Amino acid sequence: MKRLGILLSGRGSNFQAIADNIAAGRLDAEIAIVISNRPEAPGLEIARERGLPAISIPSKGLEREPYDRLLLAGLDERRVELVCLAGYMRLLSAAFLRAYPLRVLNIHPSLLPAFPGLDAQHQALEHGVKYSGCTVHFVDEHLDAGPILLQAVVPVLEDDTVESLSARILKEEHRTYTEAIRIVLEGRYRIEGRRVIRW
Ligand code: GRF
Repeated sequence: MKRLGILLSGRGSNFQAIADNIAAGRLDAEIAIVISNRPEAPGLEIARERGLPAISIPSKGLEREPYDRLLLAGLDERRVELVCLAGYMRLLSAAFLRAYPLRVLNIHPSLLPAFPGLDAQHQALEHGVKYSGCTVHFVDEHLDAGPILLQAVVPVLEDDTVESLSARILKEEHRTYTEAIRIVLEGRYRIEGRRVIRW
């Protein structure tokens, strides 16, 4: 199981970090397809520049289920085995998740279950937490839920802005996502309830 499908909606720095790690031999996998639901996503252009197969399947105006059928067709065509959400700004349908049971990962810029949803770094600052970080988790039908694979912690500093905190977290995201993908590809885990037990 080594063929990755990347779903993104924007900048694509997590996708780039994964691609860099593959290129450097730090992750034994292949990016089979990059799909964006937004045609203007910078991540798409970056993928194309790197010579990776990249397509846009615009989601605008489409309901979740019919859209997800299009997505599934795109992933199936490229024989994707593990789906990595990398800044993909839509919820996935139950039908999609049935097609990839425990085969969809997401990264979120907070220590879940704290601060799910949009602007997690802003939420963390507003709440006044002293530590935040990022979480890689298996995706279920709920927003930023699902069993947690890995987390990384960063301090929140007195003079932090959303930008400075986001940058500190992003650095950890880029490291953590690859590590989590490696664990899944190597099958070095089992799931008990919500707990992901690694070895
Ligand atoms: C990251 O902060 C990720 O945790 C969140 O969306 C952002 C995507 O950034 N899900 P990028 O497009 O990977 O640069």
